[in-house]
Amino acid sequence: MRLLPILLFVAVAVVLLLPLLRRMRLPARSAPRALPDELVKDPVCQTYIVKSRAVRRTDAGQVRYFCSEQCARLDARGGGGRARMTHRHPDPWRDADAQTNLEQMAAGLESRGRTPAHARLRRRFLRFVPVRAGDRVLEVGCGTGVVVRDLVTLVGRRGKVVGVDSSRLLLDRARRLCREAAGRARLALRVGDGARLPFAARRFDAALAITVILHVADPLRVVREMARVTRSGGHVGVQDQDFGVVAVTHPDRELTDRIMHGVAAHIYLEPHSGRRLPGLLRSAGLEGVRLLTDVYQDTTLEPWTKTFLERRAERAVSFGIVNEMTAARWLDGFTEVVAQGAFVLTLNYYGAVGTKPG
Ligand SMILES: C[S@@+](CC[C@H](N)C(=O)[O-])C[C@H]1O[C@@H](n2cnc3c(N)ncnc32)[C@H](O)[C@@H]1O
Repeated sequence: MRLLPILLFVAVAVVLLLPLLRRMRLPARSAPRALPDELVKDPVCQTYIVKSRAVRRTDAGQVRYFCSEQCARLDARGGGGRARMTHRHPDPWRDADAQTNLEQMAAGLESRGRTPAHARLRRRFLRFVPVRAGDRVLEVGCGTGVVVRDLVTLVGRRGKVVGVDSSRLLLDRARRLCREAAGRARLALRVGDGARLPFAARRFDAALAITVILHVADPLRVVREMARVTRSGGHVGVQDQDFGVVAVTHPDRELTDRIMHGVAAHIYLEPHSGRRLPGLLRSAGLEGVRLLTDVYQDTTLEPWTKTFLERRAERAVSFGIVNEMTAARWLDGFTEVVAQGAFVLTLNYYGAVGTKPG
C-alpha cells in the first residue's frame, strides 16, 4: 500500500519533467553563421586567414590552407624546404606589389566601391570639392580606378583625369577595369609616388587622394606635392576613414575594442588620420580649408563589411592581440547579432578641401 504514493509521485514527476528532458535531447539549433569562425595559418607568409576564404590545397592527403594563390604556388615550389616569406610592412597598402594576396586586395577595393553607402559618401565628397565639368583632375593613389571612373563622368568631354599609383599591378587592373568605362579617352593612368609626383607645377585644377593619406609614410610631403601640381585657386582634397570612430554591434564590447583599436594601432602610423586632415592641409599652406564628415553605415553585413571584419580577426591573431580561439569566438559573436536583425557597423569618413593660394 505504501508503494502507491511513491509510484504516483514518480508518475507525476515524469509527466512534468518529460518536456524538459526532451528539449535537452534535441540537437542544438545552430543558426547559419554570418561570419565563418575558424582561422588557419598560412605556412608560407605566416599570416592567419578565415578558413572559408583561404586557398585550399591537398598535399599527400594533407589539407593545407593559404592566404592566396601566390602563397600556394610558393609553397608548391618550395617543396620540403618550404619557401618562407612575410608580408613586409603591416600596412599592405604601403607596398601593394609586394603582397601575395594582391588579387583579394584589388577585389576588396572594387567591392567597397560598389557598396551603396561607400559610393554615396565618395560621390558626395567629389561634389564637395567640387569637381566640375571641364576640370583637369589628378587622383593620387587611384588603385583599381574606382574614383577615376566617377571623375571622368564628372569632368565631361572637355575635362581630363589622371590617376597615379605606386603599384604597377593595381594600375594594370585599373587599365583593364577602365577599358569599358564611359569617357575612357579622357583618362590617363601612370605609375608614380605621391611623395614625388611626376608632373610640372600648377598642371591641375584639383588634386585628390581618397583613402590614401592614411597609408603613406609622410602625409605632409604627399599633400605638399599635391599642392605643387595644383594651379593657384585650385583645390586639394583628401578623404580618409578614421579608425578611432568605428562602431559595431557585438555581445563582447571589451573584446571588440581590443581587436579594433589593437589592429588599427599596429597597421597605421596614425589610425585617427581622418580627423587630422584639415590640420594637415593647413600645414601644407592651403587656405579656406573646409571639412565634410560622413559615415559609412551598414545594417545588413554587406560583402565588404564582412571581409573587413574577417580581416580584422585574422590580423588580430597575426599581431598577437588575441589567439585563434578568441578571434573565432569574436567572429561567431556577429552571428547572433545578424540573426536578430540588430547588426550595425558605422565608420566615420572625413573629407578636407583647401584652396591653393595665389
Ligand atoms: C586603399 S587604396 C585606395 C584606392 C582608391 N583611391 C580607392 O578609393 O578605391 C590606397 C592606394 O594608395 C596607393 N598608394 C599607397 N602609397 C602610395 C604612394 N606613396 N604614392 C602613390 N600611391 C600610393 C596604394 O597602392 C593603393 O592603390
